[in-house]
Amino acid sequence: MDHFLYRNGTLHAEDVPIADIAAQVGTPFYVYSAATLTRHYHLFTEALSPLPHLVCFAIKSLSNVAVLKLLGDLGAGMDVVSGGEYRRARAAGVPGERIVFSGVGKTREEMRLALTGGIRQFNVESEPELRALSEVAASLGATAPITIRVNPDVDARTHEKIATGKKENKFGIPIDRASEVYAEAARLPGIDVIGIDVHIGSQLTELEPFEQAYLKVADLTRRLRSEGHDIRRLDLGGGLGIPYTRSNEAPPLPTDYGALIKRTVGDLGCEIEIEPGRLISGNAGLLVASVIYVKNGEGRDFLILDAAMNDLVRPSMYGAHHDIVPVTEPPPAAPTQPFDVVGPVCETGDTFAKARDLPALGEGDLVAFRSAGAYGAVMASEYNSRPLVPEVLVKGDHFAVIRERPTFDEILNRDTIPTWL
Ligand code: LLP
Repeated sequence: MDHFLYRNGTLHAEDVPIADIAAQVGTPFYVYSAATLTRHYHLFTEALSPLPHLVCFAIKSLSNVAVLKLLGDLGAGMDVVSGGEYRRARAAGVPGERIVFSGVGKTREEMRLALTGGIRQFNVESEPELRALSEVAASLGATAPITIRVNPDVDARTHEKIATGKKENKFGIPIDRASEVYAEAARLPGIDVIGIDVHIGSQLTELEPFEQAYLKVADLTRRLRSEGHDIRRLDLGGGLGIPYTRSNEAPPLPTDYGALIKRTVGDLGCEIEIEPGRLISGNAGLLVASVIYVKNGEGRDFLILDAAMNDLVRPSMYGAHHDIVPVTEPPPAAPTQPFDVVGPVCETGDTFAKARDLPALGEGDLVAFRSAGAYGAVMASEYNSRPLVPEVLVKGDHFAVIRERPTFDEILNRDTIPTWL
């Protein structure tokens, strides 16, 4: 459920007509609903209660500082994968003890940043990283709390570019080698081994792969404890999928996911962390665009929008589907026709949808891409020198621009011409 509904014939974000935002901000823009973000965060905290837990929002899915502040103020932790994301979490007022640091390629500089600024734990992904972290922590006279990310060799049955839990993927250490790596970690200075981390992929639409992975983590917890490690925290990653179409998809609910966690690892007495991104932010955001032209082609009609692959790359990158709806509500039995929905970028890959049935639309009409809150704005670029797409947050009848569209002067001033040229 989200808070983007038609009222009086026009699409609203909570109590704000989308057309009002478009009139003020111009298109394209992203708009997020505070009520939806809040609701989705609470679904997870409720699903995990009464287990001791922390829901760490995966910042990579939507990293605007205003959104992070909203979630942080509700008590959320943050899952970061770079020094930049760490800085965003801190700028949003989230204390270090609620920030977990994931990622396969943490640099020594990023380790220093987190160790001096405060960190809940590092999720270590390899032995070289473990040794580097030990060196950095020891040089600072600090202790780094860690989990080690294990790769459980489970097929997440999702898009190949976002599956992470098979042994051929670059993530984590093979679960079969865990005893050896934990033993080394326990010997290293500056390292405090506190738990286990796992994340098998994103946009999972079944619970079974989670179940397989979490059962392996439960076994590993018992084994590592018997080997003398004080395993007291389990980070179970993110990855729960969302419906991208209104009709035919019903991915598992957070309540079912919570029940699965309780069933598989709930009796171990560990504190549970999860790192959901998409389920919190995905259906909390729209990308709004205007029709520039309707072009009649050979056997097909093109709807040419002012949004493009640089603003929302998921369709071109993963072949992802996003529902596209007109901002003005069509009459109930309005006829539809198939359109190829495209952007102005100069490559054929700049196609959002092929033969998508839509009601009649004309120049200047507004359309909205649904489920665009996650991996939308964060993956945007200025390809074709198109200004980075702005972001808007709505709460009730308030809205605010939370990232301005850059001016062309700002864009051009980022480049410098060397004096010797
Ligand atoms: N934790 C870790 C270690 C991750 O790598 C990810 C996502 C998450 C948590 C959050 O997963 P979520 O709950 O959002 O599924 N750009 C792609 C998705 C990439 C996901 C990368 N890792 C897309 O647009 O579908």
